[in-house]
Amino acid sequence: MQNEQMIQAINDQVNKEFFSAYFYLAMQTYFSSMNLDGFANYFRVQVQEERDHALGFFNYLNKIGGKVTLSEIKEPQNEFSSPQEVFELALKHEQFITNSIYELMNISREIKDHTTEIFLQWYITEQVEEEENMGRVLNKLKLINGDGAGLFMIDSELAQRVYVPAVIPGAV
Ligand SMILES: [Fe+2]
Ligand SMILES: [Fe+2]
Repeated sequence: MQNEQMIQAINDQVNKEFFSAYFYLAMQTYFSSMNLDGFANYFRVQVQEERDHALGFFNYLNKIGGKVTLSEIKEPQNEFSSPQEVFELALKHEQFITNSIYELMNISREIKDHTTEIFLQWYITEQVEEEENMGRVLNKLKLINGDGAGLFMIDSELAQRVYVPAVIPGAV
C-alpha cells in the first residue's frame, strides 16, 4: 500500500490523535484545579488512550513502509466554564474523530486497500465506546444540573477508571 492520499490521511490522523491527548490534558488540568480528582483521573486515563491511538496509526504507517511526517500540534482550548461544557466539547471532539476515521475507511475502500480497511476496524469499534463514554458522563451532568452533591458522586465514580493499554491489531 503506497497510495499517497492514504498515507497523508493516516499522517493527519496521527496528528489528530495527539491533539486529542493534548485537548484532554487541558481538561485534566481544569478538573485538577477544581480539586475534582475523579474527573481529573478520567481524563488522565483518556490522555493515555489517545497516545495509544496516535502510536497505533504511527506504528501501522511504519509497518507498511509509509513515510511518517510529524506535524505541529495545535494549541487546545485551555479555559472551560463548567464540567458540562468540558463534556460537551469532548463528545463533539470524539464525533469529529469518528468522522475522520470514517473518511479513512472511505479512502481505503475506494483504493481497495483491504489491509488498511481491516486495520481501521479496531478504531471504528473504539469510537463507539469513546462517544458512549463521553455521552454518558454528559447526560449525568445534565441530570444533576450543577448540584454539588451530584457532582461529587460522579467524581467518585470517575475516580475508578483504570488505564488498560490498547492492543491494536496490525499496529504492534
Ligand atoms: Fe482517539
Ligand atoms: Fe476508549
